[in-house]
Amino acid sequence: MTSYSIGTLLFLGLLRFSLESGELGGHLFKLSSEETESIHAGTQSVGNIHDVKGTRWAVLIAGSRGYENYRHQADVCHAYQILRKGGLKDENIIVFMYDDIAFSVYNPRPGIIINRPEGEDVYEGVPKDYTGRDANVNNLFAVMLANKTALTGGSGKVLDSGPEDHIFIFYTDHGSPGVIGMPCDEYLYAKDLIDVLKKKHDSKTFKSMVFYLEACESGSIFEGLLPKGLNIYATTAANAVEDSYGTYCPYDYPDIAPLYDTCLGDLYSVSWMEDSDKHDLHTETLEQQYEVVRRRTASENLDKGSHVMMYGNVNLGKKSLYSYLGTNPVNNNYSLPRHNSSTSISKAVSQHEADLLHYWHKFRRAPRGSQKKLEALKQLRDEINLRMRIDQSMMFIAELLFQSENGLRMLETVRPTGQPLVDDWSCFKTLVRTYEEHCGSLSRYGMRYMRAIANMCNAGVKVEQMAIASARACVMNPLVHAPAPSIIH
Ligand SMILES: *[C@@H]1O[C@H](CO)[C@@H](O)[C@H](O)[C@H]1NC(C)=O
Ligand SMILES: *[C@@H]1O[C@H](CO)[C@@H](O)[C@H](O)[C@H]1NC(C)=O
Ligand SMILES: *[C@@H]1O[C@H](CO)[C@@H](O)[C@H](O)[C@H]1NC(C)=O
Repeated sequence: MTSYSIGTLLFLGLLRFSLESGELGGHLFKLSSEETESIHAGTQSVGNIHDVKGTRWAVLIAGSRGYENYRHQADVCHAYQILRKGGLKDENIIVFMYDDIAFSVYNPRPGIIINRPEGEDVYEGVPKDYTGRDANVNNLFAVMLANKTALTGGSGKVLDSGPEDHIFIFYTDHGSPGVIGMPCDEYLYAKDLIDVLKKKHDSKTFKSMVFYLEACESGSIFEGLLPKGLNIYATTAANAVEDSYGTYCPYDYPDIAPLYDTCLGDLYSVSWMEDSDKHDLHTETLEQQYEVVRRRTASENLDKGSHVMMYGNVNLGKKSLYSYLGTNPVNNNYSLPRHNSSTSISKAVSQHEADLLHYWHKFRRAPRGSQKKLEALKQLRDEINLRMRIDQSMMFIAELLFQSENGLRMLETVRPTGQPLVDDWSCFKTLVRTYEEHCGSLSRYGMRYMRAIANMCNAGVKVEQMAIASARACVMNPLVHAPAPSIIH
C-alpha cells in the first residue's frame, strides 16, 4: 500500500469518525468557504475619552506550547509590538509564553515569528519574562497581584500598578467551558481568575482594566461571574458555548502553505491587532474596536466564526484605546472612520480542529516514505486515538452515572445566559481531577467535556461516584483503556 492510499484511508476514516461523533462539526478539511466580511467604518469619534494620568501596564499570555499551536505565541508577540510602538515601556509589559516556537525545528524561518502571511517578524525584542515551566498559573496570579514572594522563577516583573494606572490583559489559547489552558497542561479555572481580579480591585491598584480573551467557549470565563463593579471591561472571542477560530491556516491561505503547515493567527486576536496596527488610537474607542472585531470574527453566516462578547463594566467602552494600548505616532491622523480595511476576508478553522489540520497537512506534504511522513502519520493517529478514547470514556461514564437517555442529554445542558457554568467550583475541580486520575489527561481535546463534568456537579454527582465510574470506564474496560499517547508536547 502506498503512503498515499494510507493517507486516503485515514482521511476517510477521519471524516466518518467526525460525522459519526458529530464532534468535528464538519468543518475539518473544507477547502474553502465564501466569507466576505466588511470591516466596519463610519462611527464617530468621542471627545474627552483619554484617561492617561497613570501608567499603562500590560500582561500578555499565550497559554499553549507546541508548533501546532504556533498562532497563540504569534498573537502574543504581535500584541507586544503594538504596545511598544504605542509607547509602553518594557518594564510595564509582562509576557507569558512557553517560547518554543521561534527556534522550533519545524519553524521554516528560525528566530522569526509572523502573525499573518508575509507579515513582519513579531518576535524581536519580546521580553522573556515567564517562559517554559515558569509560564504557569501560580506565577500569573502572583504577577497580577504583584506578590513577588509568591513567584517561582521568571524575570520577577509584576503588575506593580498604582491607583491611577490602566491595565491591559490579553490571553490567547485553547479553552473550554469554565477553563482556559496554560502551557504545561495546567487548567486556569474561571472562578480562580475572577477571585484574583476581585483581589486586585480590592487592593486599589488600578483605575480601570481591559481584558481581551481568545479561547473556545471564552464567554464562560466571565458569564455570570465578572461583577460590573470592578471597573474591568472584558471582551471574549466566543460566547460561552462555541469554538473560537484560528486563521491564516495553510489550507485557506495557499500562499503560506509551502512554508508553514500551521495556522499563523487567531481570528479575534488578529482582528483587534490589525485594527490597532493601523489606526490613531486616540480617536478609536474600545466600543468601536469591539464592533470592528465583532464583525470580522463572525463570518456572515457564522459558519466559521464566533460571537464576540462584552462583559463587566461596559461603560468603559467609551474610553479610547489610547488609554490602554497607547498609539503608534506613525498612525496619527489615520482614524477609524476614514479607513476601509483591505483585510476584510478572513478564513478560519475551529481551534479544536487546528492541530488535526496541522498534522494532516504535514502528513500530506511530506515526501513519500520519509521519516517526516511517518512522524506526521503517527501524530495524526495518536491524536485521533486519543480523541476516540476520551469520547468513549466520557460516554461510558455518563451511562454509568445516568442510566436514562435524559441523563445523557443532561450532560449537554447549557445553563441560561447570565448563569455561571457551575455553582460548586470545588466539586468541578475535584471531578476533573478524579477523571484524570483514572483516565489520564483530558488534554486539549477532552477539555470540551468540561461542561459535562460541571453538569455532573450541578446534578449532585459525588466524587465517590465519579471515581467508580471513571475506574470502570478507563481501568476495567479494555475497550476504552489504552495508554495515553503523548500528543501534548
Ligand atoms: C503573597 O504570597 C505568599 C506566598 O503564596 C503568601 O503567603 C502571602 O500571603 C501573599 N501576600 C499577599 C499580600 O497576598
Ligand atoms: C496630523 O494633522 C495635523 C493637523 O492637520 C498636522 O499638523 C500633523 O502634521 C498631522 N500629523 C501627521 C503625522 O500627519
Ligand atoms: C468604503 O467602502 C465602501 C463600501 O465598499 C465605499 O462605499 C466607500 O466609499 C469606502 N470609503 C472609503 C473612504 O474608501
